[in-house]
Amino acid sequence: KKAEAPAEQAASSAPAQATAAAKEYLVGSDASYAPFEFLNDKKEVQGFDVEVLTAAAEKGGFKVKFVNTPWEGMFATLDQGDRDLLASAITITDERKKNMDFSDPYFEARQLIAVGKNVTDVKTFQDLKNKKVAVQTGTTGDEVVQKLLGKTNPNIKRFESMPLALKELENGGVDAAVGDNGVVSNYVINNPQNGLATVEDTKSFAPEYYGFAAKKGNAEVLAKVNAGLKAIKADGTYDAIYKKYFAK
Ligand code: ARG
Repeated sequence: KKAEAPAEQAASSAPAQATAAAKEYLVGSDASYAPFEFLNDKKEVQGFDVEVLTAAAEKGGFKVKFVNTPWEGMFATLDQGDRDLLASAITITDERKKNMDFSDPYFEARQLIAVGKNVTDVKTFQDLKNKKVAVQTGTTGDEVVQKLLGKTNPNIKRFESMPLALKELENGGVDAAVGDNGVVSNYVINNPQNGLATVEDTKSFAPEYYGFAAKKGNAEVLAKVNAGLKAIKADGTYDAIYKKYFAK
């Protein structure tokens, strides 16, 4: 790495704060959640969340390293010290706030229903009352379906990932799947051969806000993330990333 040597020498004669290495944080993402986090051909985590947090890190003076981390058990990795941050389309909820801290919100989402494309009797969320519904375990989708069907209702089929829940719908094992709108619509649109359609019901589902999560009490990392988020919202970087992923 010869080419880097001169730059390093130059840096070492600069003031101390300029040479202090920016802290690198390990970031957990369940990379089965396109377009927010998914694996590219090189098996690197990529997506909207990755770009937003990476841009925020540049402005906030820290580094990030993304690690594919299963959704189930993800929250515990913060307390265990295995991850410093989670970037995983995580909805900020009061319940979760008891166990972890969140950055400022960076995205608004809502639940969305997927059904087979020839299904005509599902027009609202309430129409799922006596149906079999697939969700990703422990998500806000799981929570809303529990409210409608009852927590222990065997008609709720829980899966480790959202793609597995949607596969079950394709295979006819359930009548519907419920999950975050960005992910469900992305899947339905990009897999037209799989015969799914979406049913929107903005009256039944409240808006949800995604935040980056950190261990309870880790104010240091969240202050940096929030400063970075503020900067990229102010300078147009956030809007450019948003447009790249979500502009129609
Ligand atoms: N927003 C939903 C929640 O917080 C689902 C997030 C799932 N994220 C993921 N990468 N699998 O419960």
